[in-house]
Amino acid sequence: MKQPLIAPSLLAADFGNLQRDVELVEASQATWHHIDVMDGVFVPNISFGMPVIAAIGKHARKPLDVHLMIVDPDRYIDAFAALGAHVLTVHYEACTHLHRTLQAIHQAGMKAGVALNPHTPVQLLENVLDYVDLVCIMSVNPGFGGQKFIPETLTKVADLKAMIERRNSNTLIEIDGGVTLENAPELLKAGADVLVAGSTVFGAADPEATIAALSAVSYG
Ligand code: DX5
Ligand code: ZN
Repeated sequence: MKQPLIAPSLLAADFGNLQRDVELVEASQATWHHIDVMDGVFVPNISFGMPVIAAIGKHARKPLDVHLMIVDPDRYIDAFAALGAHVLTVHYEACTHLHRTLQAIHQAGMKAGVALNPHTPVQLLENVLDYVDLVCIMSVNPGFGGQKFIPETLTKVADLKAMIERRNSNTLIEIDGGVTLENAPELLKAGADVLVAGSTVFGAADPEATIAALSAVSYG
């Protein structure tokens, strides 16, 4: 029986009570803290940067899953390593030399992730997959929390899962955007390993119970 890893997105936390919300995730069954960095260039929104991540890190024991929605991410790889990022995910669409970027992330001691926008085919990763620890399939257009899940994502997850199985590799599939308790079972069935959830968790009356319910979703 397969159960998902859960990465609550702190983008949906109450920034006025960030320590409280980080501690809530710490006390829950979540696996990682998902941290969304937006630069206002790659995506039409600005979220937060280094000082806020340093503040999160003071209260976090669970690994930080950092999702960079920024152009030219190579410039900041060492800075995110110094902040204690466990997984550093860059966007396929933001990297001209993706292979080099992945190597630099590994050299800095982190797991390397690649995120794909909804229009980007998973097949584009075929020749670089052996260097990728996690593929983040965006199931909304990146930039904002609380958007509606794009259903075509399911085919992408299944295609990517088949690619990963053909290569017998350990690459994890993460789904980010519009994840709910309702669509979690089909995502898991299609091959997802990690579910990112922002508004589903922090918009719930009981976020901790919602994390528990998401991690109890099973398949097989
Ligand atoms: C969107 C971010 C997501 C976002 C998900 O660009 O990458 O991580 O926080 O939020 P929900 O779960 O509300 O769609
Ligand atoms: Zn994200």
